[in-house]
Amino acid sequence: MFKLKIPLLTLLLMTLMFPVCAVAADKGGAAVESRSEKWKEDYPDQYNSWFKTRSNDKIDDMLAEYPQLAVLWAGYGFAKDYNAPRGHAYALQSNINTLRTGAPVDQKTGPMPTACWTCKSPDVPRMIQEDGEMEYFTGKWAKYGDEMANAIGCADCHNQETMELTLTRPFVARGLEAAGIKKKDITQNEMRSLVCAQCHSEYYFKKTEWTDDKGTKKTAAVVTFPWENGFTAEEMERLYDSYEFKDWTHKISKAPMLKAQHPGYEIAKTGVHYQRGVSCADCHMPATKDGYTDHHIVSPLENIKASCLQCHDETESQLKATIKAKKQRKEHMMVLAMDSLAKAHLEAGKAWELGATEAEMKEILGMIRSAQWRWDYSIASHGSFFHAPGETLRLLGDSLGKAQDARIALV
Ligand code: HEC
Ligand code: HEC
Ligand code: HEC
Ligand code: HEC
Repeated sequence: MFKLKIPLLTLLLMTLMFPVCAVAADKGGAAVESRSEKWKEDYPDQYNSWFKTRSNDKIDDMLAEYPQLAVLWAGYGFAKDYNAPRGHAYALQSNINTLRTGAPVDQKTGPMPTACWTCKSPDVPRMIQEDGEMEYFTGKWAKYGDEMANAIGCADCHNQETMELTLTRPFVARGLEAAGIKKKDITQNEMRSLVCAQCHSEYYFKKTEWTDDKGTKKTAAVVTFPWENGFTAEEMERLYDSYEFKDWTHKISKAPMLKAQHPGYEIAKTGVHYQRGVSCADCHMPATKDGYTDHHIVSPLENIKASCLQCHDETESQLKATIKAKKQRKEHMMVLAMDSLAKAHLEAGKAWELGATEAEMKEILGMIRSAQWRWDYSIASHGSFFHAPGETLRLLGDSLGKAQDARIALV
């Protein structure tokens, strides 16, 4: 679609001078065009609606709203700063602003690995194409600070030659393969959800040793989807347990904790909409009156007519009331689970203070880990109260039960 305006001879010379160009070309054709403005000329409607994702710039500080979170995440970055999501246009800025990513002073410092850019920018597929996936996942976050310039855009979801929906991150295809899903079996309708699943999914950073072209041994932190046992919270927990994987050691209870990312796709799979073939795009990117796909991805509450009313014949206010009731049920169970979890951490801290032994605590800390995983899994997948209300409430109930079991055992 982009006509390169470089004379053929110059191109030929460039290829001769920089053999890397040829490598990049072999990997994926033309260089990834990460600047969405460049796509505007050919697709003004999609571009103009995409541009509106900057309309939701509201920062909601979740730690101020739920102070229990500071206990639940004690010793982990999320206890420093955690805000509700806003529009795609802000993904990079939110990542740079959050206290979790620190303030690196050069390319080698900073608390976070390069992997933390992965769901923020179409410059990620561009760098993976330029440097190779392993190099991209090696080193500190600041290494690519000067490359990450564009907010989530066209090149995150589309092949620029054919405009087909495309999985632009190689680890997504690997995750699907691990789950036993073959590329040839993926329908176009499923792609309308999978482009979102590239980022709205659970993942962890897998330490991977590799050797670069010059023979230097390196360690990459590779974004990996934990889908090989299945897509549920329990199946992923089994996988993490089998690796004895932990994201951090809790500062108060010393429990080996898991931090859920945002398993939005996985939890939505258990809901009635997904199971009836309704895709993420059906609600979040409905067709406009003029026949093109609305690229202003936002809460469907702002656009019930175009989204829900394609299929439902209730009124807007009925649907709004239904969504509100679902949210209230989730909030109710979420707060009960959070309170019990926070108490369990504090009481475990007290037990250590009173001289409890490692052997006495081991099983109890496992219960706390498992309880918090279920709570986090269900609420970190934003929108789950609506996408899959039954599964969300089941996980919160399970979390509450396990946290209370831990508290009784502590007594
Ligand atoms: C988050 C993923 C995502 C991003 C980002 C995205 N698109 Fe799309 N795009 C879609 C989906 C989903 C469809 C519907 C495709 C289908 O059902 O076949 C679509 C459809 C299209 C189509 C086909 C015509 C239509 O309107 O249905 C064009 C053209 C298009 N997008 C252009 C763009 C451009 C230009 C950008 C950047 C400004 C962009 N897209 C950004 C997901 C995305
Ligand atoms: C390249 C990664 C990426 C892709 C692809 C992606 N998202 Fe997102 N999405 C994010 C990030 C990151 C945020 C949070 C942005 C912030 O808070 O700064 C977000 C936020 C959102 C929000 C909240 C917006 C708001 O205004 O509150 C919705 C809704 C959403 N995404 C839906 C989708 C849907 C539906 C798709 C697929 C059509 C999709 N996303 C594809 C990364 C992605
Ligand atoms: C049947 C319609 C529907 C489908 C299908 C759907 N969503 Fe949603 N989504 C909603 C509604 C309704 C909300 C709640 C909006 C609110 O509370 O403002 C929501 C909320 C969200 C949010 C949180 C937005 C925020 O600001 O907190 C994200 C992110 C999201 N959805 C992503 C997805 C992804 C990814 C998929 C596919 C796996 C998907 N949605 C499928 C209707 C849908
Ligand atoms: C593409 C079609 C489609 C769209 C768009 C859609 N729905 Fe649905 N919805 C369905 C289907 C199909 C079912 C399942 C009906 C059944 O099995 O009886 C369903 C079921 C429901 C249910 C009952 C199940 C539950 O989870 O409680 C509610 C409530 C609902 N939808 C609300 C909404 C809202 C709100 C929106 C917009 C944000 C929306 N739907 C968008 C097709 C759609």
